[in-house]
Amino acid sequence: IKRIGVLTGGGDCPGLNAVIRAVVKTAIRRYDLEVVGIIDGFYGLVNDVMEPLTESSVSGILHRGGTILGTTNRDNPFRYAVEKDGKLTFEDRSEQCIANMKKRGIDALVIIGGDGSLSIALEFHKKGIPVVGVPKTIDNDLSATDVTFGFDSAVTTATEAIDKLHTTAESHHRIMILEVMGRYAGWIALYSGLAGGADVILIPEIPFDLGKVCEHIRARAERGRKFSIVVIAEGAKEIGGELVVQKLVAQSHDPVRLGGIGHVVAQKLEMCTGMETRVTVLGHVQRGGSPTAEDRILSTRYGSAAIDAIMSGQFGKMVALRTPKILPVPLEEAVGTAKQVKTEGQIVQAAKSVGISFGD
Ligand code: F6P
Repeated sequence: IKRIGVLTGGGDCPGLNAVIRAVVKTAIRRYDLEVVGIIDGFYGLVNDVMEPLTESSVSGILHRGGTILGTTNRDNPFRYAVEKDGKLTFEDRSEQCIANMKKRGIDALVIIGGDGSLSIALEFHKKGIPVVGVPKTIDNDLSATDVTFGFDSAVTTATEAIDKLHTTAESHHRIMILEVMGRYAGWIALYSGLAGGADVILIPEIPFDLGKVCEHIRARAERGRKFSIVVIAEGAKEIGGELVVQKLVAQSHDPVRLGGIGHVVAQKLEMCTGMETRVTVLGHVQRGGSPTAEDRILSTRYGSAAIDAIMSGQFGKMVALRTPKILPVPLEEAVGTAKQVKTEGQIVQAAKSVGISFGD
């Protein structure tokens, strides 16, 4: 192996640049390899948009959000969207990718992505392409690793938002609802709700009874706590209620992505408690900005371990945190099954013990 290609697929995520930097530095310093950056994710692999990466290309990017390589959500080389005669059709362009890799002399690929991109990595592996994946998502919903990079940064941003909402909620005796991301998992809501001292946390894994949420907030008011903070995951669902976001998060361009379940719950809570209620949809603020120190460290470890995995012939693997180690695990184990919050787990139990309601 002489030359390695690196690409970032799916949504951006704090820590992406730290991974790219570690990939490039480890490849060059430790193994004397060359690195090619593939621009705009799988789009660049299909269309041969690539550029060499040197140590100077990755200098000063450790703390920077976003990705110096660009990324796209939608391009899948195995089902590549092509417009023909005004109609959208899907074609398998994987052979074109392989030809581009050969042309560029790329011997192995590092694919940094969430479930979607890592599933594509697995398909390339099955076609004989040497590939190693790195688990990226703020949602922390990949089952084969203890933590994905980007999660800690998203939790930190959401916690800061809760801290700010606390002071304004208290001043006005209001219910403040914070809707956070997480797709089908409640990790961001659970961790930020715990860290920020939320009164109610609503997550997809525990369908909530709105009557119980009301009761909890009213009981707080009777005890003199005339404000409440509700952290709600975008994928949370009310028992017997409509699935407001569940069906929509996969379709990123649906208008309801502009804010969903938080508003629905706000209207109902205002009616049942008689308290003024306001909603903040945190949205992409959670994905932007600098990675936390924890994410910088994890990203650096992942990037460096990905190159070690390639150089020891561990293809078709994803580097995973199995505390305290980073280990290569088969991509088959890593994709397809979303890691959800354990409803009877210690974290939920601790939250309940300190008086947080999950509406169950
Ligand atoms: O997977 C990351 C994530 O930010 C989810 O939490 C969210 O549901 C989705 O991506 C938003 O996607 P988009 O950036 O396409 O709106």
